[in-house]
Amino acid sequence: MTIEPHGGTLINRELIGDEREEALLKANALPTLTISAWEISDLELIGIGAFSPLNGFMGKEDYQSVLDQTRLADNTIWSIPITLSVAASEESHYQVGDEITLKGEDGIIYGTLAVEEKYTIDKPLEAKKVYGTTDEAHPGVKKLFERGDIHLAGPITLLNRPSHGKFAAFYKDPSETRKLFEELGWNTVVGFQTRNPVHRAHEYIQKIALESVDGLLLNPLVGETKTDDIPAAVRMESYQVILKNYYPANRSRLVIYPAAMRYAGPKEAVLHAIVRKNYGCTHFIVGRDHAGVGDYYGTYEAQEFISEFEEELGIHIFKFEHAFYCTKCENMATAKTCPHDKDNHVHLSGTKVRERLRNGEQLPKEFSRPEVANVLIQALKQA
Ligand code: ADX
Repeated sequence: MTIEPHGGTLINRELIGDEREEALLKANALPTLTISAWEISDLELIGIGAFSPLNGFMGKEDYQSVLDQTRLADNTIWSIPITLSVAASEESHYQVGDEITLKGEDGIIYGTLAVEEKYTIDKPLEAKKVYGTTDEAHPGVKKLFERGDIHLAGPITLLNRPSHGKFAAFYKDPSETRKLFEELGWNTVVGFQTRNPVHRAHEYIQKIALESVDGLLLNPLVGETKTDDIPAAVRMESYQVILKNYYPANRSRLVIYPAAMRYAGPKEAVLHAIVRKNYGCTHFIVGRDHAGVGDYYGTYEAQEFISEFEEELGIHIFKFEHAFYCTKCENMATAKTCPHDKDNHVHLSGTKVRERLRNGEQLPKEFSRPEVANVLIQALKQA
């Protein structure tokens, strides 16, 4: 059994072989737009079908509809605008009807865009609709306000995937993960999004899910994150260590999700589920404050929001309450399963964790597997 991609078709906008060579030659002579690392990752995700059914950067009608209805103009569920911006001062270089080249700051041609539309955006409105706030202290809002005011929209062609360097061995596109699940004989697969090392609470909810599905796709986001998040390279090491020591090898796989983190809470939970559906997952985990940051979203707001769309999305959402270790139960638990007072629950704030690690101190084994903490301590020593 394979789950249908979102919108029904797995998009592939990548050229290979001679066609690619020709397109690259042609691209050299086209007007060129230098795009950010964030936009390169969006280009790649569209090109490889992770953002199916998108085949390019969103036009005005889709953009507006996503903001207002959490749907594309054709009614397909979509929660976050995927757009390409240009500064107002540069806008005149790119005309509707042009084919333009999309280059990185490294000079590499990543793809081309057939410009079908140009439109101006209202950033505070987008911030409010996507992030629920216009506060520039919110990392997603900050990024949005730094972007150009004009969007260029239209179908893209992917000519070079960005290099994933050290993570290349853990890179698979959606057609490859789908094939992998088939080869492994996994009919049901739970996808797990994370931007953190896997702590005991993560492990607990993954394993509860794994009790009722065939496989786990540990799918950490490794694109742009805020500077105080643990770097992806360190996290990747920690994932390998925990998988090796605590997970059944035939029922778990590590594959990167090369996207930028938006920190859009509820809206991002929906995007995360759509993407995992495209990768072939039949199930997806949404725990406490999914894709949240600071106090912008309620603890279970993402779960409540995604519940409105779950049936239509067709991917089953495993929802978990805040998980912790209880010293009285001597177990991982949640409020659903533990009768004891909060004082018995091992809780460490992110700040506390960082402080301890920076001092080279182990984390309580009830909070983190020691192997994971060791990777983090070593990394901080070398930083
Ligand atoms: S996220 O930004 O990628 O969502 P994180 O890596 O912390 O952040 O979380 C990954 C997933 O685990 C999310 O679905 C999140 O809701 C869930 N999660 C994190 N910590 C807990 C916890 N203590 N209890 C229950 N779910 C959790």
